Amino acid sequence: DPPIKDATVNKYGEIMSTLPREKDWAKSCDDLYQYQGFWYTGFFLEGILSAQDHFKARSTDILLVSCMKTGTTWLKALAFAIFTRASFDTSSNPLLSKGPHDCIPFLEVDLAQEYSRRDMEIQLLNTHIPYTSLPKSIIDSGCKIVYIWRDPKDVFISTWFYVGKVLAFMGFEPLPMEESFELFCRGILTYGPYWDHVLGYWKAKLEFPDRILFLKYEEMQKDTYFYVKKLAEFMGYPFTSLEEENGVAHKITEFCNFENLSNLQVNKSGKHRENTPMAIDNNIFFRKGKVGDWENHLTPEMGARLDGIMKHKLMCSGLIA
Ligand code: A3P
Repeated sequence: DPPIKDATVNKYGEIMSTLPREKDWAKSCDDLYQYQGFWYTGFFLEGILSAQDHFKARSTDILLVSCMKTGTTWLKALAFAIFTRASFDTSSNPLLSKGPHDCIPFLEVDLAQEYSRRDMEIQLLNTHIPYTSLPKSIIDSGCKIVYIWRDPKDVFISTWFYVGKVLAFMGFEPLPMEESFELFCRGILTYGPYWDHVLGYWKAKLEFPDRILFLKYEEMQKDTYFYVKKLAEFMGYPFTSLEEENGVAHKITEFCNFENLSNLQVNKSGKHRENTPMAIDNNIFFRKGKVGDWENHLTPEMGARLDGIMKHKLMCSGLIA
């Protein structure tokens, strides 16, 4: 007898077989699928389709959203430390023994299949799903959304190194940087086009200004303390004057900075999703944590090309001058 296949897999397999496909950033690797205007590996796409079908948001949820490699790890650490500060200080925080990605669930992977985990009091969630593809219940719930974005030149470089490591780990040979750059410029990367991802959330921010906090990686690097306070306020949990006096916001800022977080033992040698088939080294989420590293890898012409695309796509949006 043929094996009995799960109905969901069959259903998504049918949808997926009709979608446009493009080559991913590796030789002989699986294709990317284009769904609702964005590109995904089959693995992420199944999670997104499942989340769209089943995920139930609550109005009290706080959704941390980003395209890949724009500062998700940092945002997760900050939001978690802010949110749990009444129970833990920086000497007892779970972030000392678990990587940021194990402290806050990732919607389309950690929650898309296991809805029972919603029974837990998880209020902080993270996703890379573009605004226009979010599960309807997220839009309907009116829950708060924090969005982080970053200079596309550094996003490309960060993605290039990250994808290279993941693909090598899976036994695939990554494409040369120039070829991946062409794909990035054409918008072909997991969760890309990058500019459309940013634009989707920016338009939503203009429509619902109080519901969405827009953060930029470079601005946060300049004055992290200011944004830690802003984030706490937006989350509905501002620092009290007593906390300010006790330097709580400062301690969280310092605890979550790249130097400190990347040097914690758990992030140097621990694993994300340990003891599962998807286990991956935590240190893959920490590289340099610098603004402008693209200059060490891209020519000025390549940089200008990415700036040009970003400008063209976001022209008139009010997000960039
Ligand atoms: P680089 O590759 O430029 O170093 P994401 O978390 O969305 O996957 O993004 C990863 C990028 O954020 C990487 O950038 C990584 O080094 C950087 N990063 C990780 N933790 C950080 C922190 N605490 N502060 C600043 N940047 C951080």
